[in-house]
Amino acid sequence: MSDPRADAPPTAADVAAAREKALAALSEAPDLDALDEAKRVHLGKRSPLATLQRGLGLLEDAARREVGRAINEAREALTAAEAARREELEAERDRVQLAAEAVDVTLPPRTPRRGALHPAVETTEAMVDAFCGLGFTPVTGPEVESEWFNFEALNIPADHPARGLMDTIYVRGLGAEPDDDPRRPGITPLLLRTHTSPVQVRTLLAQQPPVYVVVPGRVYRSDVADATHLPAFFQIEGLAIDRDLSFADLRGTLAAAIRALLGDDVPIRLRPHHFQFTEPSCEVDAFFDGEWMEVLGAGMVHPNVLRASGVDPKQWQGFAFGVGPERLAMLRHAVTDIRQFVDGDLRFLSAQSSVPA
Ligand code: PHE
Repeated sequence: MSDPRADAPPTAADVAAAREKALAALSEAPDLDALDEAKRVHLGKRSPLATLQRGLGLLEDAARREVGRAINEAREALTAAEAARREELEAERDRVQLAAEAVDVTLPPRTPRRGALHPAVETTEAMVDAFCGLGFTPVTGPEVESEWFNFEALNIPADHPARGLMDTIYVRGLGAEPDDDPRRPGITPLLLRTHTSPVQVRTLLAQQPPVYVVVPGRVYRSDVADATHLPAFFQIEGLAIDRDLSFADLRGTLAAAIRALLGDDVPIRLRPHHFQFTEPSCEVDAFFDGEWMEVLGAGMVHPNVLRASGVDPKQWQGFAFGVGPERLAMLRHAVTDIRQFVDGDLRFLSAQSSVPA
């Protein structure tokens, strides 16, 4: 059946046909846009029903009443069908949207990855803790140091061959001497400290003995990195100055600290050695994993160091030591190449992040 024409008198069959077609379009509209379009086409001003309505004037009274009623009924039925379909499609739209926006509160949360201390830092802190337990106080000093503190005051004069043992990185500029006004630039060359021992002198110039300090920090040497050396590494300096400290105190203190770090059953051994700033001097080995391993240098503080620091060696004496925490960390974590500490490989760093029992 073709669409009704405006100039032909409408019939009830025309209305029924238009109604049937409109009903199909409205009730089967696949989505809200299609429903809007079907409503415009079948219920709008230019819809077949509207055209039929305009043709009513061509009919006799009785026929006009009959066809007119059919048109009204069709309009009511189609309006109801449109509303019903709209309700369905809106409910479907909301259901889809809610599903898409749903939050599953039962999912496990994304927890941030936990960081860990670098093994060298962790070992340094454990070592400093061990000395704090023995009555030492932590202090720090500058990494850019003057030649005077790093060498002269430690009994290593400019022409002494011991300077050659520490391949020094010099920095352009001049550093302070002890009796300089600290606000004025000093007069000896600046360098990256080659050890933490200059902080012995800084401490004694700043505070009267008795002094018990432990000094963690970074030190620098112009060494090429290999399996056991890094050009920048950590040291922990210790200094104990009092009225009657002896070599026995040195041995007992270091034995206790190493036991705290490596285990209660780890013995130490002292080997004679030479440092310019201690006399006598020794190196200390720890027996670990079936081997004697060198862990630190130590000795009784040289009288020249005490004098340079303004301390009377007749009244005060004591001992000093310098530990390499990376070396200790290698023992504690069974690391064979010290360069792994600076590679930044997270697999290595996180595997070392807790101390084995
Ligand atoms: N400063 C020495 C070094 O870097 C270690 C040390 C410190 C030795 C204190 C004796 C006393 O090798």
